[in-house]
Amino acid sequence: MRCLVFLLFVALANARVYTRCEWARVLKNYGMDGYHGISLAEWVCLSQWESSYNTAAINHNTDGSTDYGIFQINSRWWCNNGRGRTSNACHINCSELLTDNVGVAINCAKRVVRDPNGIGAWVAWRNHCKNRNLSSYVAGCGV
Ligand SMILES: *[C@@H]1O[C@H](CO)[C@@H](O)[C@H](O)[C@H]1NC(C)=O
Ligand SMILES: *[C@@H]1O[C@H](CO)[C@@H](O)[C@H](O)[C@H]1NC(C)=O
Repeated sequence: MRCLVFLLFVALANARVYTRCEWARVLKNYGMDGYHGISLAEWVCLSQWESSYNTAAINHNTDGSTDYGIFQINSRWWCNNGRGRTSNACHINCSELLTDNVGVAINCAKRVVRDPNGIGAWVAWRNHCKNRNLSSYVAGCGV
């Protein structure tokens, strides 16, 4: 029984909710500050509005696709969830976007912004981050 509880804990520990500054520091360590001209504050802002920094966030869209993880990456274009058509441009299983092994999601986000739409691919960025003063998103984080 104790073993079972332990295994359950390990499985659950896989997902993670970051604080704003924790996430800002992780992004910086992965070279996201200035990646493709996008500031750290923009990445933090979009993560806040897409997932509230929760790697386990999942949302279903009306077109039958699903958005996964801290960046809410879409299954129609970027990852494979085994349901419906996908371009799977990040060459990953969508479930890999849901763990605290966040390098997978960050690499996929880098792939997304290399497309012509750039960071405009994210509705939350267009609605909440674009052309705004974003200094509060990294304030006090030492980044
Ligand atoms: C993705 O990974 C999950 C969990 O490891 C697995 O159950 C699922 O079949 C995989 N899906 C695809 C499309 O490979
Ligand atoms: C952005 O907001 C911060 C504090 O909220 C302020 O100190 C700063 O001057 C503002 N920057 C611009 C360009 O307005």
